[in-house]
Amino acid sequence: MKSFQILVTLILLINIAVYSEAQNSLIINIPNRDTISLNGRWKYIVDPYENGYYNYRYQPIDQQENASQVSEAIFNDYHPINKSERVEYDFDLSGELNVPGSWNFQDDKLFYYEGNIWYRKKFDCITTHNGNRVFIYFGAVNYETHVYLNGKKLGMHLGGFTPFNFEITSFIKEKDNSLVVKVDNKRKKEGVPTLNTDWFNYGGITRDVALIDVPSSFIKDYCIQLKKGSISQIEGYVNLDGTNAAEKITVEIPELKLKKEFIADKTGHALIQFSIDNAVLWTPETPKLYQVNISSSESQVTDQIGLRTIETKGADLLLNGKSIFLRGICSHEENSIRGDRAWSIDDAQLILLRAKELNCNFIRLAHYPHNENIIREAEKMGIMVWEEIPVYWTIDWANEATYKNAEAQLSDMVKRDINRANVIIWSVANETPVSDARTSFLTKLISKARELDNTRLISAALEKHTVSENPPVFAIEDPFAQYVDVLSFNQYLGWYDGLPEKCTRSKWIIKFDKPVIISEFGGDAKYGYHADKDTRWSEEFQEELFIRNLEMLDKITQLRGITPWILTDFRSPRRLLPGIQDGWNRKGVFSESGEKKKAFFILQDFYNKKLKVFESKE
Ligand code: GCU
Repeated sequence: MKSFQILVTLILLINIAVYSEAQNSLIINIPNRDTISLNGRWKYIVDPYENGYYNYRYQPIDQQENASQVSEAIFNDYHPINKSERVEYDFDLSGELNVPGSWNFQDDKLFYYEGNIWYRKKFDCITTHNGNRVFIYFGAVNYETHVYLNGKKLGMHLGGFTPFNFEITSFIKEKDNSLVVKVDNKRKKEGVPTLNTDWFNYGGITRDVALIDVPSSFIKDYCIQLKKGSISQIEGYVNLDGTNAAEKITVEIPELKLKKEFIADKTGHALIQFSIDNAVLWTPETPKLYQVNISSSESQVTDQIGLRTIETKGADLLLNGKSIFLRGICSHEENSIRGDRAWSIDDAQLILLRAKELNCNFIRLAHYPHNENIIREAEKMGIMVWEEIPVYWTIDWANEATYKNAEAQLSDMVKRDINRANVIIWSVANETPVSDARTSFLTKLISKARELDNTRLISAALEKHTVSENPPVFAIEDPFAQYVDVLSFNQYLGWYDGLPEKCTRSKWIIKFDKPVIISEFGGDAKYGYHADKDTRWSEEFQEELFIRNLEMLDKITQLRGITPWILTDFRSPRRLLPGIQDGWNRKGVFSESGEKKKAFFILQDFYNKKLKVFESKE
């Protein structure tokens, strides 16, 4: 590896090591905590040359001794105090952007902008110093983020789709705090995701920002779930932050008249185990959530938690011991009406109500962890969820920093949503080319996922293998398939491989005694473009494609779920056909403005039938 590459990797590893420390202290269950929202209008400065971060020798200013004295450094939010001073930026005179929101759709000049932008938010904090601690929390910022408060560097974060927080107790002032956030969404070979994806690279602070006010010793994260394979044993943990003494932890479920006490060790970690009976289990039909109160000497959090078990038995997928079929759909994190990243409860409702109309009980949130609002709304609506990390296509497998980044994204996704009953599958990859480096990368991720959570199923969206072209016979011959609980693969027969009629001639050889999920199939259609079924891009072609694919796939004996690609047309800079795509991937069964294409009704009908079949089995 050339000396410059070694240097870049080294800087990245140091950055990850030094600043991801902050990451270990991810605080969960933000929706139920005392928070002050910092959403709203933020000042911004577009700085493509990162002039406010690097000196003219291209050395990071914030790593210089006198960093806070360097007026050129935009993170200092410096204002000249006398007329002769030279400062070449000024947030007060700069434009504003909405947070949450990508910058791409708020300023036409930034539509395709991939680069560096500085955000600044001024705020007062009256709650300071009532002995409490204060953290700044970001739901997600795409992609590389450096955060400063009153000129002090808090830390950095890599990855556009997972939350992070920094403690600011010792840096916060009562009045006029200057929070400066450097955001760079440039795509990178060593990134996760890497250079090439089929979705729009929205840049900016795309989810909620909040101040979190907690006692000096507080409940940071926890897991209260049914033990694997048991409907009567709760097993989990509670982690305190800020304690150095064995503390009593109480877990209470008032509706079940349950109150249990545990002792945390000196590090603040408590193992939680207790039996439970006659609990109503969470199912799509009855998405029962219990109020759970967790308290320690100073801190108390409340959450709404569902109890269920999810397992496989041979090719069967068992929810609470009962065989289920996943009537699913894939979705990106986009409000197609607004044409921007989705983040709010309303955005979640827009997406989930469309899935409900299809009669779905399952949704694959592709290809990265979506916002917490959609997970929690889906849980209330009885929709099971597949979550994944953006280990997508050709990742830099041999790069240790890339692995660390992917693993950190996995850990944060699991930590944030480990108490969500509707999340049943963690997926570690999508359509990744088979190689030893790749398989060992993914195998390490799987063992990390199992270490973090042994109650859920692990999968990855694999690719098909062509056994023969004539007659068309396909199989899954991926060495990684042996490590997953659920065998999932994407296949595009009739779109990228032949025409819809090929489905009818095709055979599948699936040797695995595991549940099979078809994690993608489909084809593009422009809503309102009508022609005969052989005319590509027409609704009739897509309709025929769905008919033939569903017929073919339904013959796979291990089939226990499908998530066609995709719920709604979505933005992609790879889709350029004028008059048809115009920057949109048109594989939705809904158009971006919410119109139903003919394929919608084919899929809805297929699910109504599936539902009847599985209901009759009960
Ligand atoms: C791939 C990929 C998706 C992509 C889709 C398509 O399989 O996983 O991200 O959008 O195919 O080509 O439309």
